[in-house]
Amino acid sequence: TLPIVRSVEDLRAQVAAWRGQGGTVALVPTMGALHDGHLALIRRARELAGHVVASVFVNPTQFAPHEDFDRYPRDEAGDSAKLASAGCDLLYAPTVRGMYPEGFATAISVGGPAEGLCGAFRPQMFGGVALVVTKLFLQALPDVALFGEKDYQQLMVIRRFARDLDIPVRVEGLPTVREADGLAMSSRNAYLSAEERARAPELNRALVEAAEALSGGAESGAVLDTVRARLQGAGFGTIDYVELRDAETLEPVVRVDRPARLLAAAWMGKARLIDNVPVLPR
Ligand code: PAJ
Repeated sequence: TLPIVRSVEDLRAQVAAWRGQGGTVALVPTMGALHDGHLALIRRARELAGHVVASVFVNPTQFAPHEDFDRYPRDEAGDSAKLASAGCDLLYAPTVRGMYPEGFATAISVGGPAEGLCGAFRPQMFGGVALVVTKLFLQALPDVALFGEKDYQQLMVIRRFARDLDIPVRVEGLPTVREADGLAMSSRNAYLSAEERARAPELNRALVEAAEALSGGAESGAVLDTVRARLQGAGFGTIDYVELRDAETLEPVVRVDRPARLLAAAWMGKARLIDNVPVLPR
């Protein structure tokens, strides 16, 4: 079974032992309830470094009080078994008290790619992500850390603050892992009823078809309206956003003449689903 550490001291002792033998280290931060999207990051980490650490920590600072922190799925035994089978060497599962002890008083403010999109609807989120990921980077001091394009804005925010704060960690992004019908794998898909689950893939289908039109040079306004109408027709509730952005800076884009990204967030029942696809000029 997979070794597990819960304190920074124990994590550092293990990483130091590997480093003492000249080993390299990859870190894969997660909030657990692991699926094949997470495990793809572990397998890639295995190729990029000699030793792989996964963290499982449902980070309270990235959830607003009304959000799903308390009901976020947790399954440490299941996660540990999946991580071991994917080639992970160590599970780091800190406690909330260990990460944020009494008196904790520090925040990180993120701008640029954190503005708009999910940042507009979950204003606390990317500051909380930046805080916990910075702590994880400084605790593990990995050579490389891996993140999924499923959370594309998060990936861009992490690249930005890692560069801005001179954190010496290589940030690697991996393509979204999907179910056979195109739905992006997500721990939050567990919130979907069978009927909602059957409708959810329309999010990806609508984005893929819109990306095709946008690649051909279509003006974004009408294309994005079509995506919204399709989502409404498929039974989605509130549509938080459907937007075309620059693939690097995430600045708004009207017509695609350099790599762009089409991103959306919409509610299906109790689940807020996000997805995004690349849009390349033709
Ligand atoms: P979590 O949602 O558990 O995701 C952990 C990592 O897995 C993230 O990098 C995410 O982008 C990636 N991931 C999730 N679903 C994926 C999929 N279908 N395909 C590819 N990669 C996928 O994102 C977080 O946790 C947290 O915000 C965290 C970065 C750990 C900070 O708390």
